[in-house]
Amino acid sequence: MEKPIISVQGIRKVYPLGREKVVALRKIDLDIQKGEICCILGTSGSGKSTLLNQLAGLEKPTRGHVEICGVNISRLSERQLAVFRQKHIGFIFQSYNLLPAYTACENVAMPLAFRGFSVRQRNKAAISLLKKVGLGSRLYHKPTEMSGGQQQRVGIARAFVSRPQVVFADEPTGNLDSKTTIEVMELMVRLCRKYQQTLVIVTHEANLAAYADRIVTLVDGSIISNVENHSIIDREGNKIGEVPPSEEELFAAHLQQPEEKALPASTDKTPQDSAPAEGKFALREDFLPGEEKGPTQSAPAPQEESKGE
Ligand SMILES: Nc1ncnc2c1ncn2[C@@H]1O[C@H](COP(=O)(O)OP(=O)(O)O)[C@@H](O)[C@H]1O
Ligand SMILES: [Mg+2]
Repeated sequence: MEKPIISVQGIRKVYPLGREKVVALRKIDLDIQKGEICCILGTSGSGKSTLLNQLAGLEKPTRGHVEICGVNISRLSERQLAVFRQKHIGFIFQSYNLLPAYTACENVAMPLAFRGFSVRQRNKAAISLLKKVGLGSRLYHKPTEMSGGQQQRVGIARAFVSRPQVVFADEPTGNLDSKTTIEVMELMVRLCRKYQQTLVIVTHEANLAAYADRIVTLVDGSIISNVENHSIIDREGNKIGEVPPSEEELFAAHLQQPEEKALPASTDKTPQDSAPAEGKFALREDFLPGEEKGPTQSAPAPQEESKGE
Protein backbone atom coordinates (compact mmCIF):
# COMPACT_ATOMS: atom_id res chain seq x y z
CA MET A 1 0.00 0.00 0.00
CA GLU A 2 1.18 3.51 -0.81
CA LYS A 3 2.52 5.69 1.96
CA PRO A 4 -0.18 8.09 3.20
CA ILE A 5 0.17 11.65 1.92
CA ILE A 6 -0.72 12.94 5.40
CA SER A 7 0.34 11.03 8.47
CA VAL A 8 -0.35 12.27 11.97
CA GLN A 9 1.27 10.59 14.91
CA GLY A 10 0.41 11.12 18.55
CA ILE A 11 -0.61 14.75 18.28
CA ARG A 12 -1.54 16.62 21.41
CA LYS A 13 -2.28 20.34 21.49
CA VAL A 14 -2.57 22.30 24.70
CA TYR A 15 -3.32 26.03 24.76
CA PRO A 16 -2.44 28.06 27.83
CA LEU A 17 -5.42 30.09 29.00
CA GLY A 18 -4.44 32.36 31.87
CA ARG A 19 -3.37 29.98 34.62
CA GLU A 20 -5.44 27.17 33.11
CA LYS A 21 -4.75 24.93 30.14
CA VAL A 22 -7.11 23.93 27.36
CA VAL A 23 -6.41 20.48 25.95
CA ALA A 24 -7.73 20.98 22.41
CA LEU A 25 -6.36 17.70 20.93
CA ARG A 26 -5.65 14.63 23.03
CA LYS A 27 -3.85 11.88 21.13
CA ILE A 28 -4.55 12.04 17.46
CA ASP A 29 -3.31 9.40 15.03
CA LEU A 30 -4.55 9.72 11.47
CA ASP A 31 -3.48 8.64 7.98
CA ILE A 32 -4.94 10.18 4.83
CA GLN A 33 -4.15 8.66 1.43
CA LYS A 34 -3.30 10.58 -1.73
CA GLY A 35 -6.44 11.55 -3.63
CA GLU A 36 -8.69 10.97 -0.64
CA ILE A 37 -11.45 13.40 0.33
CA CYS A 38 -11.43 13.36 4.11
CA CYS A 39 -14.16 14.98 6.17
CA ILE A 40 -13.40 15.92 9.76
CA LEU A 41 -16.74 16.11 11.48
CA GLY A 42 -17.50 17.46 14.94
CA THR A 43 -19.55 19.94 16.91
CA SER A 44 -18.29 23.43 17.71
CA GLY A 45 -15.34 23.31 20.10
CA SER A 46 -14.49 19.67 19.36
CA GLY A 47 -11.04 20.63 18.04
CA LYS A 48 -11.59 20.57 14.25
CA SER A 49 -9.87 23.86 13.44
CA THR A 50 -7.06 23.06 15.86
CA LEU A 51 -6.47 19.75 14.08
CA LEU A 52 -6.54 21.41 10.67
CA ASN A 53 -4.06 24.05 11.85
CA GLN A 54 -1.63 21.33 12.98
CA LEU A 55 -2.09 19.36 9.73
CA ALA A 56 -1.38 22.42 7.63
CA GLY A 57 1.57 23.55 9.72
CA LEU A 58 -0.10 26.78 10.81
CA GLU A 59 0.57 25.82 14.42
CA LYS A 60 3.02 23.46 16.07
CA PRO A 61 1.63 20.58 18.13
CA THR A 62 2.55 20.36 21.80
CA ARG A 63 3.48 16.73 21.23
CA GLY A 64 3.60 14.37 18.25
CA HIS A 65 4.22 15.19 14.61
CA VAL A 66 2.67 15.60 11.17
CA GLU A 67 4.15 14.30 7.93
CA ILE A 68 2.93 15.64 4.59
CA CYS A 69 4.33 14.34 1.31
CA GLY A 70 7.02 12.56 3.32
CA VAL A 71 8.19 15.73 5.11
CA ASN A 72 7.97 16.02 8.89
CA ILE A 73 6.52 19.53 8.93
CA SER A 74 6.60 19.76 12.70
CA ARG A 75 10.41 20.08 12.42
CA LEU A 76 10.46 22.86 9.81
CA SER A 77 11.30 26.46 10.66
CA GLU A 78 8.67 29.14 10.00
CA ARG A 79 10.46 30.18 6.83
CA GLN A 80 10.72 26.57 5.57
CA LEU A 81 7.06 26.03 6.46
CA ALA A 82 5.99 29.08 4.46
CA VAL A 83 7.84 27.78 1.40
CA PHE A 84 6.43 24.28 1.94
CA ARG A 85 2.87 25.60 2.16
CA GLN A 86 3.26 27.69 -1.00
CA LYS A 87 4.40 24.63 -2.88
CA HIS A 88 2.17 21.86 -1.55
CA ILE A 89 -0.87 23.29 0.26
CA GLY A 90 -4.02 25.24 -0.61
CA PHE A 91 -6.53 26.72 1.83
CA ILE A 92 -10.22 27.51 1.68
CA PHE A 93 -11.72 29.53 4.53
CA GLN A 94 -15.24 29.93 5.90
CA SER A 95 -15.10 33.71 5.45
CA TYR A 96 -13.32 33.44 2.04
CA ASN A 97 -10.38 35.67 3.13
CA LEU A 98 -10.12 37.37 -0.25
CA LEU A 99 -8.12 40.57 -0.51
CA PRO A 100 -10.84 43.26 -0.71
CA ALA A 101 -8.89 45.73 -2.86
CA TYR A 102 -8.19 43.17 -5.57
CA THR A 103 -10.33 41.70 -8.34
CA ALA A 104 -11.32 38.04 -8.56
CA CYS A 105 -8.62 37.55 -11.16
CA GLU A 106 -5.92 39.21 -9.04
CA ASN A 107 -6.94 37.20 -5.96
CA VAL A 108 -6.71 33.91 -7.86
CA ALA A 109 -3.44 34.81 -9.57
CA MET A 110 -1.76 35.74 -6.27
CA PRO A 111 -0.42 32.29 -5.20
CA LEU A 112 1.30 31.90 -8.57
CA ALA A 113 3.33 35.06 -7.93
CA PHE A 114 5.09 33.20 -5.09
CA ARG A 115 5.83 30.31 -7.42
CA GLY A 116 7.73 32.34 -9.97
CA PHE A 117 5.24 32.50 -12.85
CA SER A 118 5.20 35.59 -15.06
CA VAL A 119 2.29 38.05 -14.86
CA ARG A 120 1.00 36.83 -18.19
CA GLN A 121 1.06 33.18 -17.10
CA ARG A 122 -0.58 34.03 -13.78
CA ASN A 123 -3.43 35.93 -15.38
CA LYS A 124 -3.98 33.30 -18.02
CA ALA A 125 -4.20 30.52 -15.41
CA ALA A 126 -6.45 32.60 -13.12
CA ILE A 127 -8.85 33.52 -15.92
CA SER A 128 -8.98 29.97 -17.20
CA LEU A 129 -9.79 28.58 -13.76
CA LEU A 130 -12.30 31.32 -12.93
CA LYS A 131 -14.15 30.44 -16.12
CA LYS A 132 -14.15 26.80 -15.09
CA VAL A 133 -15.72 27.62 -11.73
CA GLY A 134 -18.49 29.54 -13.48
CA LEU A 135 -17.15 33.07 -12.90
CA GLY A 136 -16.16 34.04 -16.42
CA SER A 137 -18.38 37.11 -16.16
CA ARG A 138 -16.94 38.20 -12.79
CA LEU A 139 -13.22 38.26 -13.55
CA TYR A 140 -12.74 41.91 -12.68
CA HIS A 141 -15.24 42.19 -9.84
CA LYS A 142 -14.00 42.88 -6.33
CA PRO A 143 -15.13 40.67 -3.42
CA THR A 144 -17.78 43.16 -2.23
CA GLU A 145 -19.36 43.06 -5.69
CA MET A 146 -19.99 39.32 -5.48
CA SER A 147 -22.35 37.04 -3.55
CA GLY A 148 -21.06 34.71 -0.83
CA GLY A 149 -21.19 31.73 -3.17
CA GLN A 150 -19.29 33.62 -5.86
CA GLN A 151 -16.66 34.77 -3.36
CA GLN A 152 -16.19 31.21 -2.19
CA ARG A 153 -15.74 30.05 -5.77
CA VAL A 154 -12.99 32.65 -6.08
CA GLY A 155 -11.54 31.25 -2.83
CA ILE A 156 -11.64 27.74 -4.28
CA ALA A 157 -10.01 28.86 -7.53
CA ARG A 158 -7.26 30.56 -5.50
CA ALA A 159 -6.68 27.39 -3.46
CA PHE A 160 -6.43 25.19 -6.55
CA VAL A 161 -4.66 27.46 -9.02
CA SER A 162 -1.13 26.32 -8.21
CA ARG A 163 -2.35 22.74 -8.12
CA PRO A 164 -1.24 21.90 -4.58
CA GLN A 165 -1.13 18.27 -3.51
CA VAL A 166 -3.30 18.92 -0.46
CA VAL A 167 -6.17 21.38 0.00
CA PHE A 168 -7.52 22.17 3.46
CA ALA A 169 -10.97 23.70 3.89
CA ASP A 170 -12.24 24.91 7.29
CA GLU A 171 -16.06 25.11 7.27
CA PRO A 172 -15.99 26.22 3.60
CA THR A 173 -19.78 26.33 3.36
CA GLY A 174 -20.40 27.78 6.82
CA ASN A 175 -21.67 31.11 5.43
CA LEU A 176 -23.64 29.70 2.48
CA ASP A 177 -27.26 28.64 1.94
CA SER A 178 -28.01 24.99 1.26
CA LYS A 179 -28.22 25.24 -2.53
CA THR A 180 -24.91 27.12 -2.77
CA THR A 181 -23.38 24.68 -0.28
CA ILE A 182 -24.04 21.82 -2.69
CA GLU A 183 -22.57 23.76 -5.62
CA VAL A 184 -19.45 24.62 -3.65
CA MET A 185 -18.97 21.07 -2.30
CA GLU A 186 -19.35 19.58 -5.77
CA LEU A 187 -16.91 22.07 -7.21
CA MET A 188 -14.21 21.31 -4.62
CA VAL A 189 -14.63 17.57 -4.96
CA ARG A 190 -14.62 17.61 -8.77
CA LEU A 191 -11.46 19.75 -8.87
CA CYS A 192 -9.75 17.32 -6.48
CA ARG A 193 -10.86 14.31 -8.44
CA LYS A 194 -9.59 15.74 -11.69
CA TYR A 195 -5.99 16.09 -10.50
CA GLN A 196 -5.91 13.39 -7.77
CA GLN A 197 -5.50 16.05 -5.14
CA THR A 198 -6.20 15.35 -1.50
CA LEU A 199 -8.90 17.39 0.26
CA VAL A 200 -9.43 17.69 3.99
CA ILE A 201 -12.71 19.40 4.86
CA VAL A 202 -13.69 20.41 8.35
CA THR A 203 -17.40 20.79 9.02
CA HIS A 204 -20.07 20.43 11.68
CA GLU A 205 -22.68 19.54 9.04
CA ALA A 206 -23.09 15.77 9.04
CA ASN A 207 -24.76 15.65 5.61
CA LEU A 208 -21.61 17.04 3.94
CA ALA A 209 -19.72 13.90 4.96
CA ALA A 210 -21.55 12.22 2.04
CA TYR A 211 -18.93 13.77 -0.27
CA ALA A 212 -16.00 12.19 1.57
CA ASP A 213 -14.07 8.96 1.09
CA ARG A 214 -13.13 9.03 4.76
CA ILE A 215 -15.13 10.42 7.67
CA VAL A 216 -13.26 11.23 10.86
CA THR A 217 -15.39 12.23 13.85
CA LEU A 218 -13.90 14.35 16.60
CA VAL A 219 -15.36 14.66 20.08
CA ASP A 220 -13.67 16.73 22.73
CA GLY A 221 -10.26 16.61 21.05
CA SER A 222 -10.25 12.85 20.35
CA ILE A 223 -11.08 10.85 17.24
CA ILE A 224 -14.03 8.65 18.16
CA SER A 225 -14.48 7.15 14.71
CA ASN A 226 -12.59 6.93 11.43
CA VAL A 227 -14.48 5.17 8.65
CA GLU A 228 -14.22 4.79 4.89
CA ASN A 229 -17.23 5.94 2.91
CA HIS A 230 -18.49 5.65 -0.66
CA SER A 231 -18.43 9.26 -1.75
CA ILE A 232 -21.39 10.54 -3.75
CA ILE A 233 -18.81 11.73 -6.32
CA ASP A 234 -16.62 8.83 -7.40
CA ARG A 235 -12.92 8.93 -8.32
CA GLU A 236 -13.79 9.59 -11.96
CA GLY A 237 -15.84 12.62 -10.93
CA ASN A 238 -19.25 11.02 -11.64
CA LYS A 239 -22.05 11.84 -9.27
CA ILE A 240 -23.43 8.56 -7.97
CA GLY A 241 -25.47 9.56 -4.93
CA GLU A 242 -27.54 12.28 -3.29
CA VAL A 243 -26.67 14.60 -0.43
CA PRO A 244 -28.84 13.63 2.52
CA PRO A 245 -30.88 16.55 3.91
CA SER A 246 -29.40 18.40 6.85
CA GLU A 247 -31.12 18.43 10.22
CA GLU A 248 -32.17 22.05 9.60
CA GLU A 249 -33.78 21.12 6.26
CA LEU A 250 -35.65 18.21 7.82
CA PHE A 251 -36.83 20.45 10.64
CA ALA A 252 -37.88 23.22 8.23
CA ALA A 253 -39.80 20.72 6.08
CA HIS A 254 -41.49 19.37 9.18
CA LEU A 255 -42.53 22.86 10.26
CA GLN A 256 -43.67 23.94 6.82
CA GLN A 257 -46.23 21.26 6.06
CA PRO A 258 -49.00 21.95 8.57
CA GLU A 259 -48.14 25.67 8.56
CA GLU A 260 -48.84 26.29 4.86
CA LYS A 261 -52.54 25.55 5.15
CA ALA A 262 -52.90 27.78 8.19
CA LEU A 263 -51.29 30.83 6.51
CA PRO A 264 -53.71 33.56 5.37
CA ALA A 265 -53.80 33.98 1.58
CA SER A 266 -52.54 37.58 1.82
CA THR A 267 -49.17 36.68 3.29
CA ASP A 268 -46.39 38.10 1.18
CA LYS A 269 -44.05 35.15 1.70
CA THR A 270 -43.28 34.03 -1.83
CA PRO A 271 -41.10 31.00 -2.21
CA GLN A 272 -38.20 32.20 -4.37
CA ASP A 273 -36.17 29.04 -4.40
CA SER A 274 -37.15 27.75 -7.81
CA ALA A 275 -34.46 29.60 -9.77
CA PRO A 276 -32.56 27.27 -12.10
CA ALA A 277 -29.14 26.17 -10.91
CA GLU A 278 -26.33 28.49 -11.94
CA GLY A 279 -23.80 27.51 -14.60
CA LYS A 280 -22.38 24.00 -14.48
CA PHE A 281 -18.71 23.84 -13.67
CA ALA A 282 -17.49 21.45 -16.31
CA LEU A 283 -13.79 20.89 -15.76
CA ARG A 284 -12.56 19.82 -19.12
CA GLU A 285 -9.23 21.46 -19.78
CA ASP A 286 -6.13 22.14 -17.84
CA PHE A 287 -5.63 25.62 -16.50
CA LEU A 288 -2.06 25.79 -15.22
CA PRO A 289 0.56 27.39 -17.39
CA GLY A 290 2.95 24.79 -18.64
CA GLU A 291 0.20 22.33 -19.48
CA GLU A 292 -1.40 24.52 -22.05
CA LYS A 293 -0.02 24.50 -25.52
CA GLY A 294 3.05 26.61 -26.06
CA PRO A 295 6.64 26.46 -24.87
CA THR A 296 5.98 27.60 -21.28
CA GLN A 297 8.32 26.20 -18.63
CA SER A 298 7.43 24.79 -15.26
CA ALA A 299 7.90 27.02 -12.23
CA PRO A 300 11.37 27.52 -10.81
CA ALA A 301 11.99 26.27 -7.30
CA PRO A 302 10.42 28.65 -4.76
CA GLN A 303 13.81 29.30 -3.12
CA GLU A 304 14.92 31.14 -6.22
CA GLU A 305 12.14 33.66 -6.24
CA SER A 306 14.06 36.57 -4.68
CA LYS A 307 14.39 38.58 -7.90
CA GLY A 308 10.73 39.53 -7.58
CA GLU A 309 8.74 41.85 -9.80
N1 LIG B 1 -5.74 29.95 20.64
C1 LIG B 1 -6.47 29.31 21.58
N2 LIG B 1 -6.29 29.56 22.89
C2 LIG B 1 -6.99 28.92 23.82
N3 LIG B 1 -7.93 27.97 23.55
C3 LIG B 1 -8.16 27.69 22.27
C4 LIG B 1 -7.45 28.32 21.20
N4 LIG B 1 -7.90 27.83 20.01
C5 LIG B 1 -8.85 26.93 20.33
N5 LIG B 1 -9.00 26.81 21.68
C6 LIG B 1 -9.92 25.93 22.38
O1 LIG B 1 -9.70 24.60 21.89
C7 LIG B 1 -10.92 23.91 21.74
C8 LIG B 1 -11.11 23.49 20.30
O2 LIG B 1 -11.28 24.65 19.49
P1 LIG B 1 -11.45 24.60 17.91
O3 LIG B 1 -10.38 23.74 17.35
O4 LIG B 1 -11.53 25.99 17.43
O5 LIG B 1 -12.86 23.86 17.75
P2 LIG B 1 -13.82 23.72 16.48
O6 LIG B 1 -13.09 24.20 15.27
O7 LIG B 1 -14.18 22.27 16.43
O8 LIG B 1 -15.03 24.56 16.79
C9 LIG B 1 -12.00 24.85 22.25
O9 LIG B 1 -12.26 24.55 23.59
C10 LIG B 1 -11.37 26.21 22.10
O10 LIG B 1 -11.91 27.11 23.01
MG1 LIG C 1 -13.53 25.75 13.92
